[in-house]
Amino acid sequence: MTVLVTGGAGFIGSNFVYYMLDKYPTYRIVCVDCLTYAGNMSTLKEAMENPQFVFYKTNICDRKGIYEIFETEKPDVVVNFAAESHVDRSIENPEIFLQTNILGTQVLMDACRQYGITRYHQVSTDEVYGDLPLDRPDLFFTEETPIHTSSPYSSSKASADLLVLAYHRTYGLPVSISRCSNNYGPYHFPEKLIPLMIANALNDKPLPVYGKGENVRDWLYVEDHCKAIDLIIHKGKVGEIYNVGGHNEMRNIDIVKLICQKLGKPESLITYVADRKGHDMRYAIDPTKIHRELGWLPDTKFADGIDKTIAWYLENTDWWEAIISGEYQEYYEKMYTNR
Ligand code: NAD
Ligand code: TYD
Repeated sequence: MTVLVTGGAGFIGSNFVYYMLDKYPTYRIVCVDCLTYAGNMSTLKEAMENPQFVFYKTNICDRKGIYEIFETEKPDVVVNFAAESHVDRSIENPEIFLQTNILGTQVLMDACRQYGITRYHQVSTDEVYGDLPLDRPDLFFTEETPIHTSSPYSSSKASADLLVLAYHRTYGLPVSISRCSNNYGPYHFPEKLIPLMIANALNDKPLPVYGKGENVRDWLYVEDHCKAIDLIIHKGKVGEIYNVGGHNEMRNIDIVKLICQKLGKPESLITYVADRKGHDMRYAIDPTKIHRELGWLPDTKFADGIDKTIAWYLENTDWWEAIISGEYQEYYEKMYTNR
């Protein structure tokens, strides 16, 4: 079995690469990533030593390059993680989100049609459902919740989902889609909430909380997301959407305070800054379908996952310090100075 993983040098894709190499030693894992600011070869260092792993530095929008990889590698299954993934960046510059997230998805699916695969899996997000109000804790996103996006990022992901479903209906492409809640864990790029707060706290820098910090996210340890995708590509039904989430809702401010406490840093580092434009209030996934049909349940409780994550950032300072000392500095200044 050959599994083509796009975006494998990023956060979730790399965790999936390691999960698959470990769980299926006979599978060949072909990684395609163009190494944007979010892709990092040091993340794949150990994978590169595994003879079952091969890496192509290719953009998923590059039709010729992608077709050549399909021709050479003949993947059975394609799992598409490659995307522009940061909401704040999508607010600054939507264009690249439309290119990679929508047109890149189209190129991959055209290659799948041309060369034949048994499954194309699209890694999507709960953000396609928009947000839920804070005063209705009884409401959750199900697979039937209408798409109602807020940001250019979520709109581009929703557009891709619609295209994936259209390729199934129109061309019979064997597709599946997972819509997961916020992930956390190793190799998470330090522009996102949890790793940014860990890195800043360790450097005694201000912890920028948007608005009042009351927005709620539903956090899932990244390995549990990888397990869900593994189940879906092997046992999930073609043409289906599966929501993935572990019923772990937390307010941003509580996450930041917890990180301060775990690292022995004062809460006086917390700085309230201008809110994100169009900021979604609450995400909350109902994972009943994937539990009922595929038996998926998360293994890692947040209390353990956050400890593992903090321990990883403490042990792997080289990894994130190299990132924050590079072009990230420019990004940080642009987004946070005088905010
Ligand atoms: P990430 O930004 O950490 O990684 C994205 C990877 O894709 C990087 O390695 C980057 O180099 C690569 N990439 C970007 N554009 C590319 C292109 N045009 N061609 C080839 N490679 C390209 O993102 P992530 O957090 O790992 O998210 C992966 C996927 O999971 C995304 O599709 C995202 O929408 C989805 N998702 C993320 C979360 C989350 O909490 N992070 C939750 C649900 C769904
Ligand atoms: P993020 O990690 O960007 O994920 P998403 O927007 O896709 O959910 O942000 C998580 C939450 O944390 C979101 O409500 C925005 C908030 N946030 C801050 O308060 N400060 C920050 O510096 C960042 C990056 C995010």
